[in-house]
Amino acid sequence: MTDYKLLSAQIAALGQQEGWYVPLLANASAAVWQALPDLNWAGFYVMRRGQLVLGPFQGKVACIHIQPPRGVCGTAAAEDRTVVVPDVHAFPGHIACDSASRSEIVVPIHHGGVVAAVLDIDSPTPGRFTEADRTGLEQVAREIEKAILF
Ligand code: SME
Repeated sequence: MTDYKLLSAQIAALGQQEGWYVPLLANASAAVWQALPDLNWAGFYVMRRGQLVLGPFQGKVACIHIQPPRGVCGTAAAEDRTVVVPDVHAFPGHIACDSASRSEIVVPIHHGGVVAAVLDIDSPTPGRFTEADRTGLEQVAREIEKAILF
C-alpha cells in the first residue's frame, strides 16, 4: 500500500524547491516510481500546441506524440478526467508503448485553468489501480499544480 500522504508531502517539498516543469516532473516521476509497487512505466506527457508530448518519465522508451483524444492519455486530456483502465487490451485505442503494460491510470494536471499535462502510470498487473490510488494520485496532481511553471 502506498502512503499517499507521504508522497504528496514529498511532491509539495519538491515543488517548493523548483517549479519549472522539467526538474519538477523529473523528480515527481522518480518519487511515484519509488512509492508505487508493481509498475512498468510512470511519467508525464506535456501539452504543446494541442498535442501531448513525452515529458520526464521512468521506464522504457515511449511514444513521443499523442494526439488527443487518442489513447488513454488523450482521453484523459480531452475529457479532463482521471481515466482508470483495468485491462488495457479492452480499451479501444489504447496505445501500446510497452507491451508489458496490462493496466493504466492517467490523471490530468492543470495550469491556467486548462489541462497542461497528464500523469500516466502503467502496471504489468491487470486491475492494479484502486480507488485509493485514484484519490492519492489526484492529490499528487494537485500538489504539482500548486508549483508547476512552464
Ligand atoms: N498507453 C498510453 C500511451 C503512453 S504509454 O503508456 C507510456 C495511452 O494509451 O495513452
